[in-house]
Amino acid sequence: MNISIRKGNLEEQTCDLLIVNRFSDEKKLTGSASDVDRALGDKLSQIAKEEGFKGEGGETLLLRSLGTFSGKRVLLVGLGAQKEFTSEVVRDVSAQAYQSARKLRANHVVSVLHGAGGGGLLATDCGRAQVEGLRLGAYEFNKLKKTPDEKPHEVKTWEIVTNEGTHLRNAKRGMEVGEMTTRGIILARDLVNEPSSDMHPKALVNVAERIVKESKGKIKMKLYTKVEMKKMGMGGVLGVAQGSEHDPLFVHLEYDGRGSKSGKAGSGRVGKRISIVGKAVTFDSGGLSLKPAQYMETMKCDMAGAAAVLGAFSVLAELQPKLHIDGIFAAVENMPSGTAMRPGDVLKAMNGKTMEVLNTDAEGRLTLADALSYASTLKPDYLIDLATLTGACVAALGEEITGLMGNTLDFNAKVMQAGLDAGELIWPLPLEKRYRKLIDSKIADMQNIGGKYGGALTAGLFLQEFVGENIKWIHLDIAGPAFAERPMNAYTQYGGTGVGVATLLELLRSL
Ligand code: BES
Ligand code: MN
Ligand code: ZN
Repeated sequence: MNISIRKGNLEEQTCDLLIVNRFSDEKKLTGSASDVDRALGDKLSQIAKEEGFKGEGGETLLLRSLGTFSGKRVLLVGLGAQKEFTSEVVRDVSAQAYQSARKLRANHVVSVLHGAGGGGLLATDCGRAQVEGLRLGAYEFNKLKKTPDEKPHEVKTWEIVTNEGTHLRNAKRGMEVGEMTTRGIILARDLVNEPSSDMHPKALVNVAERIVKESKGKIKMKLYTKVEMKKMGMGGVLGVAQGSEHDPLFVHLEYDGRGSKSGKAGSGRVGKRISIVGKAVTFDSGGLSLKPAQYMETMKCDMAGAAAVLGAFSVLAELQPKLHIDGIFAAVENMPSGTAMRPGDVLKAMNGKTMEVLNTDAEGRLTLADALSYASTLKPDYLIDLATLTGACVAALGEEITGLMGNTLDFNAKVMQAGLDAGELIWPLPLEKRYRKLIDSKIADMQNIGGKYGGALTAGLFLQEFVGENIKWIHLDIAGPAFAERPMNAYTQYGGTGVGVATLLELLRSL
């Protein structure tokens, strides 16, 4: 679908479907909705009145123009109350509008810029959110469906039309950001949705290699094989990989946008260095501590952290932040077999610390132990990891909210703000030292499970053991929002959500 914006009057447009909107706390149709109403001989307002359309969020009203008007159909959508209006409403409404257009099999849609006529959003944010809602609302993972009639209709052209020049320019900039962000999100969704039989460690590496190639030299990559990982002492990843037919692979992507302005030797860093680590367990069966069948059904999503890293990296060459950015993940599969690691085994991580494996299903932290140790050797200013780490986080925050733990208040605040600006829900959990004793091991430096309670927190404390001194670090537990078992909202249907990409990109723009 081609999405564009241009100047014009809505009531003069020829199209299959024309989309206008209204707030619930406006007495009557305003702006372009009222222009369209006038062109329709007041039919829009009359029918809206008769049908009891109030303009609540999510409310829609469809009418056919029957030749009285250049657009074949008009869809009126509700935006809710102006004081409750946010980008989120725009994303939701835009996704809904897309789904209506798809059902009507419309090819050419013309729409207002939602939120440009009130509600207090900047036109850039309106443009961005509208593109995000449309692109994500249109997303489906249907490549495995071969029957053509199961493939949904695709709208060809979506034109946003506004009669204000300043709106046009600002919205356009926002739309570009929306296009870029959603491209990253959609890549992450695709990677998560791909069955684990195809999205094995080597396949994840192939995606990283493709990103490097497409970056035309802006992104470089170091790849470590199992033998090299052994040399580096990555006992955590190797332990988890033991039961799988697939060898583990360790990926380090590098983007350097800092430039060397003065060119003088020793002029130092222009920008900061941030390392982004993603959990990349391509399938989590639990290992010998096997998961019950139902819990395993969605465990292809256990590489969603790495998917977010790859999603963000896929648009870095375009975003061009003035930072040095590392993208790091240990791609590995957690399987039970005669060669699998056993409960009671002790593994040594890259930083030398030993970990007693009491439960082979707490594998994410074992792989992240090495990934965080490796990242720490790069001495980044900031270190952030994204991981589908614990069911306990889902119990605490539910399916839609990411849990955040960090070792500095200022970086915590930065990431919280980035989440807010990106429209992703993040809430802090305590990294409480007093709970460290819960992962004390009788025979090793730590054990990989805590007690019965606070499982998300003990997992966070475990990870902290592998973060180097003086590094501002954040751990995002995305076990809840990584995979939507049922639709979360109009623009997040069943499957991989691409969570984390938008927040990461927002963070990189703000650092
Ligand atoms: N990958 C899972 C966590 C998970 C749960 C992700 C639900 C997505 C949705 C992780 O490896 C795991 O199995 N964690 C265990 C840890 C426990 C054994 C301490 C869990 O949360 O049950
Ligand atoms: Mn597990
Ligand atoms: Zn896992």
